[in-house]
Amino acid sequence: MCGIVGFTGNHQAAPVLLDGLAKLEYRGYDSAGIAIRDGKSNTEIIKEKGKLKVLGEMTDWGNAVRGCCGIGHTRWATHGEPSALNAHPHSSDDENVIAVHNGIIENYQELKEKLSKQGYTFKSQTDTEVAVKLIDYYYKKYNEGPVDCIVRAMLRIRGSYALCVMFKDYPDEIYTARKDSPMIIGIANGETYVASDVPAILKYTRNVYYIGNHEIARLEKGKVTFYNIDREEISKPLTEIKWDAEAAEKGGYEHFMLKEIHEQPKVILDTINSVVQNGQISFESVDLSDDVMRSIRQVYIVACGSAYHVGMAVQYVIEELTSLSVRVELASEFRYRKMSLQDNSLVIIISQSGETADSLAALRSAKKQGVRTLGIVNVVGSSIAREAESVFYTLAGPEISVATTKAYSTQLIAGYLLALQFAKARAEITDERYAQLISEINSIPAKIEKILSDKERIQWFSSKLVGIKDAFFIGRGIDYAISLEGSLKMKEISYIHSEAYAAGELKHGPISLIEDGTVVISVVTQPELYEKTVSNMVEVKSRGANLVGVTTYGNYAMEDTADFVIFVPKIDPLFAGSLSVIPLQLMSYYVSVGKGFDVDKPRNLAKSVTVE
Ligand code: M6R
Repeated sequence: MCGIVGFTGNHQAAPVLLDGLAKLEYRGYDSAGIAIRDGKSNTEIIKEKGKLKVLGEMTDWGNAVRGCCGIGHTRWATHGEPSALNAHPHSSDDENVIAVHNGIIENYQELKEKLSKQGYTFKSQTDTEVAVKLIDYYYKKYNEGPVDCIVRAMLRIRGSYALCVMFKDYPDEIYTARKDSPMIIGIANGETYVASDVPAILKYTRNVYYIGNHEIARLEKGKVTFYNIDREEISKPLTEIKWDAEAAEKGGYEHFMLKEIHEQPKVILDTINSVVQNGQISFESVDLSDDVMRSIRQVYIVACGSAYHVGMAVQYVIEELTSLSVRVELASEFRYRKMSLQDNSLVIIISQSGETADSLAALRSAKKQGVRTLGIVNVVGSSIAREAESVFYTLAGPEISVATTKAYSTQLIAGYLLALQFAKARAEITDERYAQLISEINSIPAKIEKILSDKERIQWFSSKLVGIKDAFFIGRGIDYAISLEGSLKMKEISYIHSEAYAAGELKHGPISLIEDGTVVISVVTQPELYEKTVSNMVEVKSRGANLVGVTTYGNYAMEDTADFVIFVPKIDPLFAGSLSVIPLQLMSYYVSVGKGFDVDKPRNLAKSVTVE
C-alpha cells in the first residue's frame, strides 16, 4: 500500500523522487522519506512523519539534496506507528544497505531473532528494517554481490514485498525485488525509473517493464538487467503505457475525486466502445469465447470494498438475464473458505488496482482448483490482470482519489456487458431485447452528464448533512447494492458512521436506531420494488427520520414522503444503479469538503490494499 519511487540518471534525483511520490501519495501518507547518493558512497537519508508536504518543505522539494541516484517512499503504516523512526528508507547501521519496502514480511519476528543472535540491533519497529539487515547479513557473510544476497534474503522471507535497495559499493545502482506487491521499471533518455505505480513516472516515460514475482532487477543509468530467483539473467518485454499523463493530474478541479466523478461519462463510453461495435458485443479482446460462456453453470464474483459492491449489483443483472446462478463473495473470506468450487464455474475477480492482496489470493485459490477465471481490472499489467485467464480491462484511466468513483462505474459497465453477452451466447435473450439493452447501456454517459449538470442542488443539500453523526442507506435488489456503495463512500471520506441495509431488513433490528432527525437515504429505482421500499420509508419517517429519496423522474409522489428527493433519468431498471450512484458520490464528496477533510486521502486508508 505504500508508494515507492527510485531513480538513477544524470539529473538530480531528489526532485524526481518527490515529484513521483506526490503522484503516489494516495498509496500511503503517514510519513515519507528519501535516500540520495552523490555518485560516491555518500548518502543522505531524510525522512519525517506526516504527509509528503513536510518532507518537501524540509528539502526545498528536493532541491536541497544533491545526488543523481536515490530511492523514496511514502508510507501506510503496518508495523510500527507513523513516526520518523519507522519511516522509510531504512538502513544497516553502517549504511551499507539502504532500502524502501512495500508489503508485509510475515516472519519478521523470527528473522529478527536470528539477526539479533548475529549482533544486529534494531532502531525501528518495522519489518522493513529486518529485511534490510538480513540483506546486509548475507552480503557480508557470502561476499558475493547485490543480486546474490537479495536472492538469499528472498528465500528466507515469507510475505509480500516490493523492495528497492541501494548498496554502498554500487553508488549509481538500485536493486529491486518483488513478490505480490506491484512495481514497474521505466527507461528514458539514458535514465532509469522504478515505481510502485504508473502515475509516478508517466511524466518521464511510457515504456515500462513489469517485474514479475520472485524476480530481481539491477538498475543502472538507462539500463536494466533482470534475474530470476536462480540468479539467471532473463529478458522481459517492454510495454507501452497508453494512459494520458494529464489524466493523472487534477486538471483544474479542487480534488481528484470531483475530477474523477466528472470523468465518468467519458470513461464509461470508452469502456463500452472497447467491446461494443455496431451494436454487438465482441469479447475477442477479453479472450472469453461464446463456447466457454455456454459451458459455464455457476458464476462466483469475488472482490473487496466497492468492487464487491459492483459484484452485488451485477449479480442481479446476470440472474435477471440468464439462468446462471451467481454468488458474490468477499475476497478476504473466499480465500480462506474450504469451498469446493463446482466444475464449469467461472470465478470473476473485480479489482481496480489489480493488486488487492485478498483478491489476488482468491484468484490463485480458484486457479488451484482448476476453475476458469476472469479479471475485471483497470490497471494494465497488474498482478490480477496477468494471472487471470481472461481479462476485461475497464478503461477508467488512472484513478488517484482513494475513494473510487470512475473505476467503480466502469466495473459496473463491464458487468452489464458480461451479463448481456452471457445471455446472447446462451440464447437466453431475444435479438430485440439485446439491441434494446445495448442502446440503454449506450445512453448511460449522457444521463450521467445530466445528473452532473444539476450537482449544485446536491451540494446545497449536502451542506446540511455536515453535522450529522449517523446515516442509513436503504434499498432493495439493485438499489440495495447501490446503497452499500453510497454508505461506503459516505463513511470513508466523511467519517460519518453509516450503514446500508436491505430495506426489508429494517424491521429485523436496525429500525430501533431511528430517532428524530436520523438521516435515511433511500434508493428507489426498481419499479417492481417501489411500493415496498416506500412503505419502509414511511415507517422510518414516522419514527422521525430525515428522509432522502433517490429515484427516477416520474416518481414525483416520492416528494410527499421524503424531505429531499433527487431524481435521475429513466433507464432500464437493470442499469439504474449507474445513475443512482452518482448523487451518492456527490453527496459524500460535498459532505467531506464541508467538513474540511482531505477528500482524496482519507485517514487510515490507502488506494491499493496490497497487504491482508
Ligand atoms: O483495487 P481494488 O478495486 O481491488 O480495491 C478494492 C477496494 O479496496 C476499494 O474498492 C475500496 O473499497 C475503495 N477505497 C472504496 O472507495
